[in-house]
Amino acid sequence: MSLKRTHKCGELNASHAGQDVVVCGWVDNWRDHAGVFFVDLRDRYGRVQVVFSPENPPAFAAAQKFRSEYVLAVKASVAKRPENAINKELSTGEIELHVLEVEVLNASKTPPFPIKDYVDVSEDIRLTYRYLDLRRPALRDKILMRHKIAQLTREFFNGEGFIEVETPILTKSTPEGARDFLVPSRLREREFYALPQSPQTYKQILMIAGLDRYYQIVKCFRDEDLRKDRQPEFTQIDVEMSFIDEDDIMSLMEKFVQKLFRQTIGAKIQLPLPRHTYQDCMRRFGSDKPDTRFGHELCDLTPVFQGTEFRAFQSAASEGYIGGLYFPEAVAFSRKQTDDLIALAKSFGAKGLAWMKYQDGAFDGGISKFISDAEKSRLVEQVGMASNGLLLIVSDENVELAQTVLGVIRNRLAAELNLIDESKLALHWTVDFPMLEYSPDEDRYVARHHPFTSPKPEDMGYIDSAPEKARARAYDLILNGNEIAGGSIRIHTREMQEKVFSALKLTPEEARAKFGFLLDALSFGAPPHGGIAFGFDRLVMLLSGSSSIRDVIAFPKTASAMGLMENTPSEVDEAQLKELNIRLIH
Ligand code: AMO
Repeated sequence: MSLKRTHKCGELNASHAGQDVVVCGWVDNWRDHAGVFFVDLRDRYGRVQVVFSPENPPAFAAAQKFRSEYVLAVKASVAKRPENAINKELSTGEIELHVLEVEVLNASKTPPFPIKDYVDVSEDIRLTYRYLDLRRPALRDKILMRHKIAQLTREFFNGEGFIEVETPILTKSTPEGARDFLVPSRLREREFYALPQSPQTYKQILMIAGLDRYYQIVKCFRDEDLRKDRQPEFTQIDVEMSFIDEDDIMSLMEKFVQKLFRQTIGAKIQLPLPRHTYQDCMRRFGSDKPDTRFGHELCDLTPVFQGTEFRAFQSAASEGYIGGLYFPEAVAFSRKQTDDLIALAKSFGAKGLAWMKYQDGAFDGGISKFISDAEKSRLVEQVGMASNGLLLIVSDENVELAQTVLGVIRNRLAAELNLIDESKLALHWTVDFPMLEYSPDEDRYVARHHPFTSPKPEDMGYIDSAPEKARARAYDLILNGNEIAGGSIRIHTREMQEKVFSALKLTPEEARAKFGFLLDALSFGAPPHGGIAFGFDRLVMLLSGSSSIRDVIAFPKTASAMGLMENTPSEVDEAQLKELNIRLIH
């Protein structure tokens, strides 16, 4: 390369007029206009128009051979464009470059899709050619936003006296509710490391070590079923603090979120953020991470159906829950639309989904003929029906299941009926989670957050007598129905940790084998401590207005956990397996 870059394409403007510059970049676009060649040259910083005219025969001849994505170095003089050629859309739109010399630094095959913001191509092709995908300005901007959020994060936590400490990637199983990725050890036959699901135990040990305030922007690994907002390896902003309580952590994190929103999208967040208990969230919205940008809250219809003749509701009316959702906007729903909702409800475990339309003072369709007049008038009152609409009802002996299904339907209908004001930002804390939940598959209680979370002092007694009643000192931060962070105050005495392990049906031997190091550390003067972790990718996704977490990760995995560009996971050599003492069984 004989030409040396002096300027970036995107930084040039009218103030550079008259200067000679050298820019480097990719051929974004070229057109032949009245015997003159116009090339848009693109780099990370933007695009600039370069003019090749026959007055410079060598450069003009070279330009005939340019194709999309060729890499050029161009020496040129910066000239103001004629008034009628100014492009106000472009930061460089007032100028153009008149070529003095050009060097083709590399050719390019024809890309499989155009390097434009909106491309009509499958995501698999984009992921296979991720280096081309990342050249698209829309994706580049998301990666730049991610970098900015990482910088702001460091600035905030450094400013608050936190220190960044790296924790191991080759480690022991860390229980966060997913499967572990295992790494066989070559040096120790039959033994495995696990990749961390989070640095949870390490950050607690850093508190015991006296480091007081820790943070880390850190990779976590979870082998779980993927969705739009999940990846098998993802990044957390992980935080831990000593000698604090819930209010200290929540108010500091609110300050952090306020800074992020202000300095990325210019949004003002009013503090303190609202707090809703888990119970209230379930009762009102059927979700522990409700989207509060719209209303349409659940309505408890259990009292309406006391003593009902309608068989399907009888057992839930006496020992369960009957809940309803009323959507005036869905009054004209077709049979197919209600059938789709029924299928959705069943896929989430409901026995069914009952419906009726309320029109001009009367109920019609669905289950209306099975409901008595007295029940109908109680319904009108309980739901507060002021206009025509569609009433959807779920009944179940399992209250939480019925509420959850209604929560799913609420979200689906809000999306389908365009009821969500996308310009709104709804942030709140969900608090007072149940600490334990019964797992029928495992026939034991499991920790809802993780087993190091402290119970509320007033609920301590329930751990032995009624584990499902004990509430945790845990909190989740919710943005527009997405869980963007979760944390808790931890158990900091060995006795309490052993008690919780035993409530989880871990024998003392199992507890020792899995978490002996933590139990030991807790017996050497562990300070009261607690923390939180933000889903960094999710945060970037929401702040950059992306609909998929994959768009804010440079090299993400597909929904089936594959890296399409580098083709991973992939088979390994027989010799490598042998060295690891591994034989494949099929
Ligand atoms: P938790 O499991 O709630 O807590 O995780 C914290 C946050 O990480 C994000 N997250 C994910 N993001 C992308 N892909 C995934 N597979 C994924 N799983 C989780 C979510 C979530 O809110 N150690 C505790 C934190 C603590 O107690 O301090 C923990 O990991 O946004």
